[in-house]
Amino acid sequence: MAEDESSRCSTSCSEGETHLISSGANGFNRDEEDLEKENFQRILNAFLFYRSHSLKRVQRAEQQYRDLPAHHQEMLPCYMDHIDLVRTCIDHNYQVIKLITAQTSGMFENKDHGPVQSGENVIRGVPPTGFDMDKVKTTLKQFSRDWSDAGKAERSACYDPVIAEICQRFPVHKCDPSTVYVLVPGAGLGRLAFELAKQGYCCQGNEWSLFMLFGSNFVLNKCREVNAFTLYPWVHSWINLRSFSHQIEAVTFPDVNPADLPASANFSMAAGDFLDVYTEPESWHCVATVFFIDTAHNIISYIETIWKILKPGGYWVNMGPLLYHFAEVPNEHSIELSYEEVRSIILKFGFEFEKEELSVKSTYTQNVHSMLTYQYNSVFFVVRKPL
Ligand SMILES: C[S@@+](CC[C@H](N)C(=O)[O-])C[C@H]1O[C@@H](n2cnc3c(N)ncnc32)[C@H](O)[C@@H]1O
Repeated sequence: MAEDESSRCSTSCSEGETHLISSGANGFNRDEEDLEKENFQRILNAFLFYRSHSLKRVQRAEQQYRDLPAHHQEMLPCYMDHIDLVRTCIDHNYQVIKLITAQTSGMFENKDHGPVQSGENVIRGVPPTGFDMDKVKTTLKQFSRDWSDAGKAERSACYDPVIAEICQRFPVHKCDPSTVYVLVPGAGLGRLAFELAKQGYCCQGNEWSLFMLFGSNFVLNKCREVNAFTLYPWVHSWINLRSFSHQIEAVTFPDVNPADLPASANFSMAAGDFLDVYTEPESWHCVATVFFIDTAHNIISYIETIWKILKPGGYWVNMGPLLYHFAEVPNEHSIELSYEEVRSIILKFGFEFEKEELSVKSTYTQNVHSMLTYQYNSVFFVVRKPL
């Protein structure tokens, strides 16, 4: 995350509709407002540039094929058919992207980013960076992780243990779950937070990236039918394919109806940097972080904030690796600590370990068919702020 893609807003879900409210609306000066609006437009542009960006890569693949000697081309009679299918998948993804971006105007209840330009004519001037285009593709893959049947195994490994620990500590049959405040920082497309709200907890997801916020706004607010949409998240993978069919594999979403929350559910999403948004001491019973703590410039600040915002007796449940996001980003501060150091800092703040597993096999937006698999040995722990 070398560049700023953030926004400071919050979304709250009531009667099946998610409202977005800017938490910084009154605190911004004119320059910040302008920057925020520019940023909003930039990310919209990146989404809308998706089609031409992706088709350029297809053009390259086609050209490489045409540059083969004729007798080699003849040995690949289906190659161009596959290329045509790849184009069709990209076109389809773009249709979904247009739906996602069409929902963003007026997305923030108390913040008007307009008049932002949407529609294809928006792509003018300097095209979005490769970094931004990667973020668009990552967002498509995140739909598979969070909201598809295809992502079920990945979610089970990452989210189920976290949900189980929270349910064990705040049993819904023994306490009124709507009085238990659970925060999910770095919520991505919001599935873990949604699942916790479904258990009855008063749950808030927090997310910094507008790429993710556009996506979660779409899935949580606009998707009202199971598997109504199809994406081709792996269509940009040109290598490590066992079969061309895997590149064009369809993923349908959402696997559940995001509106299916109990009427009493209290579910919200707050946008912005975790460190900026959460400053109120002793306000949460539980903080659940999954694949999040390594997004920090300074992981100690994250631990400090979690310590501060937890109520005495509150729990922090964490699952994930230490793939420090800023480790190799030039001009970005990044302190890379081993888990041993992280653990000792957690103890120094005063947390008590209740559970700790050092090697939970987990994946992140992994294409199960790929010849390359990244598997994390995630740390999973539950710590408590003493009473
Ligand atoms: C690796 S993703 C994990 C998403 C989700 N928890 C999951 O497991 O699928 C990390 C997420 O944290 C978000 N993030 C990074 N820095 C953040 C910050 N300072 N405050 C809030 N969210 C942040 C990123 O935008 C990204 O969506």
